[in-house]
Amino acid sequence: RYAAVIFDLDGVITDTARYHYLAWKRLADGEGVHFDEAANEHLKGIDRMGSLELILASATRAYSDAEKLALATEKNEHYKELIATMSPADLLPGAVAALDTCRAAGLKIGLASVSRNAFTVLDRLGITDKFDYIVDAGTIAKGKPDPEIFLKAARELGVAPGDCFGVEDAVAGVASIKSAGMYAIGVGDPAVLTEADQVIPDLAAFRIP
Ligand code: G6P
Ligand code: MG
Repeated sequence: RYAAVIFDLDGVITDTARYHYLAWKRLADGEGVHFDEAANEHLKGIDRMGSLELILASATRAYSDAEKLALATEKNEHYKELIATMSPADLLPGAVAALDTCRAAGLKIGLASVSRNAFTVLDRLGITDKFDYIVDAGTIAKGKPDPEIFLKAARELGVAPGDCFGVEDAVAGVASIKSAGMYAIGVGDPAVLTEADQVIPDLAAFRIP
């Protein structure tokens, strides 16, 4: 019997990948850097500066730290405009039912997103109060695939990592869960999420392991 579940947000509970894509695409176009939806796939679960580094890897010139910070801020301002229109209609199928199933089973519920916009997104979705603990991404030194964020969630929930399971859509996220010593439910394609203990297509298929 597990004592806690720790959910990822983007791509699991709601689909913000489209908004991240649009915001990065505008930035990349402005810089004359090639960026498409296939490249966007590799950014899932990767934090903001890490994502920018991946995009600028195909640039023809070098960028200073100050320039990178300005570009990341510009992308985030656009992203914030896009997510301002989100509502509970943006919850993915099965998301609320999965949270309620875990609550009814007496599990502690945590959220481990590296997004610094996670609190805003949860608020727009109207589900903030469904979590016992939400990691503040600003307090995390190492993003996924490092286990830090899942270990912090477990510690704050007062549950040993081995008594937790995590739910993730990204390769880097599943790696983070596994290196934290937790059972991993992947959401997506089993051919992609090969490190997960089980893979489901979406939260409508969620069952407590
Ligand atoms: C999530 C998304 C990533 C995003 C990251 C940081 O992990 O999957 O695509 O880059 O959050 O988001 P932020 O809102 O802090 O820029
Ligand atoms: Mg995700």
